[in-house]
Amino acid sequence: MESRREFNSRLLHSLVAFGLVETLWSRDLFADPIKPTIQAWLKELVEMTRDLRGRTLTDIEFQAKMEDLYRRVDLKSLCDLIKLDEIAKKKLPDNGASNVGIDLAKVEGLPTNIGFGKQIFGCGKGRSIVPHGHANMCTGFIILKGTWHGRHYDRVETRPDHYVIKPTIDREFGPGDLSTISDHKDNVHWFKAATDAAFIFNVHVIGYDPTIKETSGRLYLDPDGEKLAGGLIKAPKMSSDACHKKYG
Ligand SMILES: [Fe+2]
Repeated sequence: MESRREFNSRLLHSLVAFGLVETLWSRDLFADPIKPTIQAWLKELVEMTRDLRGRTLTDIEFQAKMEDLYRRVDLKSLCDLIKLDEIAKKKLPDNGASNVGIDLAKVEGLPTNIGFGKQIFGCGKGRSIVPHGHANMCTGFIILKGTWHGRHYDRVETRPDHYVIKPTIDREFGPGDLSTISDHKDNVHWFKAATDAAFIFNVHVIGYDPTIKETSGRLYLDPDGEKLAGGLIKAPKMSSDACHKKYG
């Protein structure tokens, strides 16, 4: 019986003999095997964004699809694509999170208008992406590096000076863990870095629902508000400055 090692060795010699190894190398199939995977992954993201904007997917369906897609990402390929190592060399802010844009223009096969925004958030230990909600926006986070304490809330009511929110997620997040928001599910998020040099990849789709008239900026709030019946919280509206002062 021939051992596996002997078989592999013989196979490799045959491939060399027939010039196959060289051919594959020149076509870049050995040099960068991750490329097709992450490209296909991004294409799927572009397609589901188009379906959300075309109203063939509801925001909650989009969230489920996005979470499924995030679960299937090759995290190392994503980190390589966005050059996380280079981003991680930059100093992180003393308060709040850094926000770094990503250029996907060179990714083959993507249309010019991908339909979504994308960025990387970075925090030092103990710093936060402060608590906030959004209007007319779907977004997805996936942890690239570090450990985070992540919290989400449903935004149940919007009043002139406060929101009524309901806690939905409160747990530790590590690399590969993910969460999403939309107007109808888990709308408020807040992520505090538990380790240094912690990074999150974020995709956001703004203005997906023409019936929602509120603008899409961040809605800062204080989740440490009055406890109401049924596990609800009266969360006062905050300015960005006040929110960063308390939670950043
Ligand atoms: Fe957000």
